[in-house]
Amino acid sequence: MEIKHLTNTRDLKSDEVEKLFEKAKEYKAGKIKKTLKDKLIITIFFENSTRTRSSFEIAAKNLGANVVSLNVATSSSSKGETLYDTAANLDAMNPHAIVVRHKEAGVPKILSNYVTCPIINAGDGSFAHPTQALLDLFTIREYLGNDLKTKKIAIVGDIKNSRVANSNIELLKRFGLDITLVAPPQFLPSTTKLKTSHNLKKTIKEVDIVMSLRTQTERHTSQMYASLKDYASDFCITKEVVGDKDILLLHPGPVHRNIDIDDAMLSDPRCKVLKQVENGVYVRMAVLDLFINA
Ligand code: NCD
Repeated sequence: MEIKHLTNTRDLKSDEVEKLFEKAKEYKAGKIKKTLKDKLIITIFFENSTRTRSSFEIAAKNLGANVVSLNVATSSSSKGETLYDTAANLDAMNPHAIVVRHKEAGVPKILSNYVTCPIINAGDGSFAHPTQALLDLFTIREYLGNDLKTKKIAIVGDIKNSRVANSNIELLKRFGLDITLVAPPQFLPSTTKLKTSHNLKKTIKEVDIVMSLRTQTERHTSQMYASLKDYASDFCITKEVVGDKDILLLHPGPVHRNIDIDDAMLSDPRCKVLKQVENGVYVRMAVLDLFINA
């Protein structure tokens, strides 16, 4: 049987996404069985992470799996081992899945050619972050219902360099949402079929959901903005800009406080950042179960 990998959202058909969400909902309602008992999951993060890594590890443990997290700072890749050799060595330990994050786009896909278990992408460069998009869609549906065809979302921030934006654009469009990208020109992709705007205040008035993204300074080769403060004066989601508009405010974290979203909006009930984190565990449990027990 061909092994199924999750390298980007396109690896899941829409009916598989539905199946996954049904499962995540059951987990959230407390119906959890140890379906990954005696399974071994390796997490290997070549790039920093707090919530994604812990979310995957908690998800795996909730289902009874054994988790081994490789510390990349002390691993052999920093000694010059090739990706191929790293993959072959991990695979020889017979894991049931490998969760990987890397600063280069395409690494999970490359690894998937050399292993005999599912590769789950936990974020690669500015390319894809499929489980983040899944948990974002799951959270949106929790508040706005399953039929999103009349709903509009503004994705605000460093879209060009964001794997979260990339994965969300594919998935949210597929599930019916109308997307507007809001950013200064240098943060927009050079070509896009989507609507774009430089005017946050005006766009917020027209949407149901705002997804704010972090400025990916670590992926910039030159300074993209005079200062983050200047960027914030145009694109920070503030209480003043949002007013009393009924919106759902999302952010994948880590939030640059008062740059991406201001203090007042972060503690506003319309902000669902911590709900996203909570849902992330259930969605990742469903992903691990689906890919390992396929
Ligand atoms: C994001 C990531 O690492 O891609 N965070 C996350 O996974 N929750 C977004 C970011 O780093 O800005």
